[in-house]
Amino acid sequence: MNDSIILQCKDLTKRYQQGELDVQVLKGINLSIKAGSRVAIMGASGSGKSTLLHLLGGLEKPSSGEVILDNIHINRIKSSQLAKLRNQSLGFIYQFHHLLNEFTLLENVAMPLLIGNQSIKDAQQHAFALLLRVGLEHRVQHKPSELSGGERQRAAIARALINKPKCVLADEPTGNLDSKTAENIYQLMQELNQELQVSFLIVTHDKALAHRMDTVIYMEDGRIVDAISEK
Ligand SMILES: Nc1ncnc2c1ncn2[C@@H]1O[C@H](COP(=O)(O)OP(=O)(O)OP(=O)(O)O)[C@@H](O)[C@H]1O
Ligand SMILES: [Mg+2]
Repeated sequence: MNDSIILQCKDLTKRYQQGELDVQVLKGINLSIKAGSRVAIMGASGSGKSTLLHLLGGLEKPSSGEVILDNIHINRIKSSQLAKLRNQSLGFIYQFHHLLNEFTLLENVAMPLLIGNQSIKDAQQHAFALLLRVGLEHRVQHKPSELSGGERQRAAIARALINKPKCVLADEPTGNLDSKTAENIYQLMQELNQELQVSFLIVTHDKALAHRMDTVIYMEDGRIVDAISEK
């Protein structure tokens, strides 16, 4: 691990206003993720974990505060630039997998490379190799709707990793998986972390997984209330 920071946020807040309803979901979050580090976020349902991940990944705009990805203030750049930066630097594993139902698993996983202008043949070869690694080589021609929840989850993980992103943001990556598959996914993340210095920021309710990361951050009601180093 070196000391450069791949992703950080400063005084991040988020409120949702709908008519009479005004919900302050994030109340001033400061966080820095070092290159090559592995961080878990824990906290009760509704504490703001997914919202924080969405803001850090530029999927939603903060109400105030800054997100800095790879030294770029992402809320100050054009949406086309942001899309490119996101595709190059970040991998997402969503709480709900967000695979595209009209495409096969192979196509879904290859998609980030095709968007990045790689040839179809190379992209599909690479996608196959990763699907093999998550144990889905027998499902490459299936559509997401034909798979189990855990299989979709694994495909979503393959898609998030295919660009060799600098940082992966994962919302409950092992949430629906049996313990053996969850362990395989953990090992895969571990290998990428060590081989390529990929950083991981993982929201999880799984204490065992959280404590295998370098740092565990605890959220409560829109705030970070504790950060404990595990190493
Ligand atoms: N679009 C929205 N409009 C209004 N409120 C929202 C919106 N999105 C999220 N919230 C509220 O923000 C709070 C935090 O939601 P968030 O999804 O970040 O929680 P979480 O910590 O990820 O919970 P879980 O562990 O259940 O996934 C919740 O109270 C939720 O109802
Ligand atoms: Mg959530």
